[in-house]
Amino acid sequence: MASSGAMVLAMMGLLAALVCPAAAAAAGFISMPTDNVGDHSYGVHATFCPNLEKIVLDKVAEARRWDIGVVAGLLRIFFHDCFPNGCDASLLLEPSHLYSSERARERPQNQGLHQGALDLIQRIRDAVRDAKCTEVSCADITMLATRQAIKLSGGPDYGVQLGRKDSIDPARIDQVNQFLPAPDAKIWKLIEVFQSRGFDRTDLAALSGAHTIGKTSCPNLASRTGDAAWFVEAIKMNCPGSWDKKQVLDVDTPDDFDHKYYKNIVDGKGVLSTDMELLNDPFIKDLVHKWATDKNFFFWKFGEAMAKMARLPVGGPSEYRENCFKRNSMRETVNLTAEGFAASA
Ligand code: HEM
Repeated sequence: MASSGAMVLAMMGLLAALVCPAAAAAAGFISMPTDNVGDHSYGVHATFCPNLEKIVLDKVAEARRWDIGVVAGLLRIFFHDCFPNGCDASLLLEPSHLYSSERARERPQNQGLHQGALDLIQRIRDAVRDAKCTEVSCADITMLATRQAIKLSGGPDYGVQLGRKDSIDPARIDQVNQFLPAPDAKIWKLIEVFQSRGFDRTDLAALSGAHTIGKTSCPNLASRTGDAAWFVEAIKMNCPGSWDKKQVLDVDTPDDFDHKYYKNIVDGKGVLSTDMELLNDPFIKDLVHKWATDKNFFFWKFGEAMAKMARLPVGGPSEYRENCFKRNSMRETVNLTAEGFAASA
């Protein structure tokens, strides 16, 4: 009886998703998995690591209690790892273990990655290994942790395909430069960059909503000008140009994953100049206005775009990294100097 009730509910959800996706999102059926791509699938760890989701959830919830910043930290790491060359944990490789030509983490776009979030990924890696789940990659852990962090902060759920391995090669610097936009990019540039990775204007508008949580370092406000001069003046006064100081990205509800980001933009209170740029494309401007008043519509599109980002193709040699920050072949004691010579062995 209970299972037939559940079946009826599931069928109602499916029907709602087919007839009216926005209503489906409101009912919690957001971005439900529909297909598996390549070697990646939704339930790949279910048999040999049944506790994986719980391990990740517990660790993220614990870390979030101590430092709410890990949520935004994970989300930005996820974006910066996945967008340039697929979700392969290549970004996690520590610069000190790489040749100078490979140090993607030292590029300006990757400045300020949240150390607590990086450490959390490794803590989850250790806990997953202790549970004898050897074939779970740092890339899958990053993806699952990000999803749980968003959910815990009030955001939407979405399906992510698992079964990735970790790249042996570090993130490519040319791809980081090309695909991670600068904080002073104009709307045409943002659209061009996102389109070059297969993401349309709706995806760009929805993923930018990630700035509903987290912070920016103050120097990133240098290019922020605009109509609501009082607001620009206020944030610049609150946040003078030092890299140690930070400004929240959503001045209304900085720690909640909600749709206030769009309301802020409509009111001229977007923090980065790229946030305000969204108003300079008519199609995106229309979405910003819609999502400012319709959280479920935003959540639905955000979930879809996140699932799409998780599906970006990966390539090259790979492994299950023991330590998310180092290739398995790398001896603990090897430390490469700026010129790329082993400083100690
Ligand atoms: C559209 C182009 C984007 C630009 C130009 C951009 C730029 C930035 C900048 C400059 C910061 C501040 C970094 C710092 O100073 O520490 C930031 C923070 C952040 N970004 Fe973006 N971003 C973009 C898109 C995205 C996307 C697509 C996501 C995720 C899906 C994302 C997630 C975040 C998060 C969560 C933070 C806060 C990080 C923290 O508090 O640790 N961003 N972004």
